[in-house]
Amino acid sequence: MDGNGRWAQARKERRTQGHLEGLKAAKRIVKAASDMGIRYLTLYVFSTENWKRTAEEVGFIMGLVKQYLRAELAFYRENHIRLRHAGDMAGLPPQIAGELTEVCNVTREWGGLQVILALNYGGRDEIIRAVNRAARAGIEPQTITEETIAAFLDNPDVPDPDLIIRSAGEFRISNFLLWEGAYAEYYVSPVLWPDWTEQELRLALEDYQKRERKFGGITR
Ligand code: FPP
Repeated sequence: MDGNGRWAQARKERRTQGHLEGLKAAKRIVKAASDMGIRYLTLYVFSTENWKRTAEEVGFIMGLVKQYLRAELAFYRENHIRLRHAGDMAGLPPQIAGELTEVCNVTREWGGLQVILALNYGGRDEIIRAVNRAARAGIEPQTITEETIAAFLDNPDVPDPDLIIRSAGEFRISNFLLWEGAYAEYYVSPVLWPDWTEQELRLALEDYQKRERKFGGITR
């Protein structure tokens, strides 16, 4: 969800105002994705690297997350949205981890769109945690395959993403879904995240529909 800071800067406002608008954009996109019948949507909310930001900004984002988790439950219920988490739960402030676990549990059986909040998430960190889990489960090193690693990722039942969208014109992976995104299509939009509406999501999907996916093979 890139561009919150730039959005605020362009209006001579504080970066935190950009995150507040970013949260509103996230709500619009979750609603649009749910209405369109999309099955999975992962939002990169906070990376393992984002702790380097000022204490004020980190505190503000965490506050927004907490507020979002609580305030949106009725909306999730209405739209049968299931909330999930990707990332290192152990590194999150206990209050956030508690709320997150609770909302994930309450929405567990809801069968609509699955919204995965990548929070304290890093692609490398996820792979390291997966390998550690495999080791603790007693997996013999010589038996390890792609399927073994995939089975120990944060949400092993969630399919690999078809499309990874970046806002604000960034052409980087930024440690996002490194394993799962191996064959994902990328879409980069110049639109800053707080300005995202259903229309931007539609443009991304229309672009995706024109792609020819080969997964390393050939199609003709
Ligand atoms: C990246 O833009 C954005 C973030 C690191 C924070 C995203 C968090 C939210 C939108 C609020 C919480 C959302 C949910 C769904 C709970 P940036 O700050 O790097 O912007 P810049 O690249 O313009 O500086």
